[in-house]
Amino acid sequence: MIKTVSSEEIENQYEYMKKIKELDIQRKYYINTMGCKLNENDSEKISGMLSQIGYEETNSPEDANLVVFNTCCIRENAEEKVFGKLGELKNIKEKNNMIICFAGCMSQEKHVIEKIKKSYPYVDVIFGTHNLYKFPEMLHEKIVKTKRVFDVWDIDGEIFEGLPIKRVGDKSACVTIMNGCNNFCSYCIVPYTRGRERSRKPEDIINEIKELANNGYKEVMLLGQNVNSYKGGENYNFANLLRDIDKIEGIDIVRFMSPHPKDFKDDVIEAIAESKSVSKVIHLPLQSGSTAVLKAMNRGYSKEQYLELVDKIRNKVPNVTFTTDIIVGFPGETEEDFEDTLDIVRKVCFEQVFMFIYSVRKGTRAEKMEGHIPEEIKSRRFNRLKELADRITEEENYKYIDTIQKVLVEGESKTNKDVLTGRTSSNKVVNFVGDKNLIGKEINVKIVSQHIWYLKGEIID
Ligand code: SAH
Ligand code: SF4
Ligand code: F3S
Repeated sequence: MIKTVSSEEIENQYEYMKKIKELDIQRKYYINTMGCKLNENDSEKISGMLSQIGYEETNSPEDANLVVFNTCCIRENAEEKVFGKLGELKNIKEKNNMIICFAGCMSQEKHVIEKIKKSYPYVDVIFGTHNLYKFPEMLHEKIVKTKRVFDVWDIDGEIFEGLPIKRVGDKSACVTIMNGCNNFCSYCIVPYTRGRERSRKPEDIINEIKELANNGYKEVMLLGQNVNSYKGGENYNFANLLRDIDKIEGIDIVRFMSPHPKDFKDDVIEAIAESKSVSKVIHLPLQSGSTAVLKAMNRGYSKEQYLELVDKIRNKVPNVTFTTDIIVGFPGETEEDFEDTLDIVRKVCFEQVFMFIYSVRKGTRAEKMEGHIPEEIKSRRFNRLKELADRITEEENYKYIDTIQKVLVEGESKTNKDVLTGRTSSNKVVNFVGDKNLIGKEINVKIVSQHIWYLKGEIID
């Protein structure tokens, strides 16, 4: 069911934005975004609201009058970093009359809220993932009543539409199509921090993408924890959405993240095969190559089923390639289980493998499982997997040499201003020398060499 926050409630928030704008305060904000693309997209919404209030963004927290931490708790090290960064602000808060806000997935965790209440009295506003749209109201309360505002909802929030957004890029944009997750993989915290699945209405998504196209965007990344369980209506699923987005004039590349292998149905494969803009690089999170570990992870597929799915997609979508996520050292993972993971990595020849060492998350089922793996073994396995994945990436990259690729030019290279950087339709980074007026355009580039993380090319006319 689609539940949307009422337009009156959203108007109410615009009223609060207006009220804060009229106040005589200094307005520079710094936002620190951790975690996944969903968080990045949420940060763009927070930035949108702050811009509407008249705030200007700064890249350094020292200059800011308002700092927002949009946090992630997918793994333990992400959490530890935040507390360190909060501590750093303690001494400059007074000087800048700074308001410190704490948002995102960590604020949905009870033990985190308790810790902040007790040990971080200088955090002023805490809000969660479900009530992000109420940020203007909370900020207003903090400024006018000068008291701490804690507002985190336990219940699942609703979809909200119509708030302002300030995007990071001007050619490629993230579009969240659904929130939450119903899968409860046994290692994962996300179902607890983002609540149950809820999809946006197809027309709201299509209108957002049409507007992006009108504003010169060329690429969209559709976001959700399990995009292929998107449900836009009784007879409207993710395949329908892909087909409708494919019709939008001006959008050349459509990517999506993440689909779940267990829900990757034929209609979605057909939609990808028949569309002109949907990327032929598919991110297909594997997590483990061992059927026993997959079962303990509650992933809903076996090693064989994953490989069959890859074959099926390869048969229907010419030139398709895959990227994946893998967790190393899940409780009970034996040497043989790990070998199964290496085996799948060899068989599928992923373009890229995002690897993670298993991290215990409070409240998840895996926390209480037996057979937790010593850190030393986890990191040894991680390194072995990394070696294999890097070698495959290198081999795959060699195949690009001397080919001509269509490249969407994204901007100047971060390390060398004379070099432009862009991505092939298969999402490989390509660096090449070229004129800045090519930024935002799609051009033909001949690949001349490979460097593991990027390809080097030359523009051809
Ligand atoms: N919904 C996406 C994943 C989102 S989280 C999916 O199902 O694929 C991104 C990645 O973080 C996951 O794919 C997983 O590989 C990793 N991850 C999640 N929980 C983890 C944990 N407790 N320890 C280590 N890695 C984890
Ligand atoms: Fe986490 Fe699994 Fe949901 Fe992905 S599908 S967010 S890994 S519970
Ligand atoms: Fe992290 Fe939350 Fe995303 S836990 S990975 S920011 S959904």
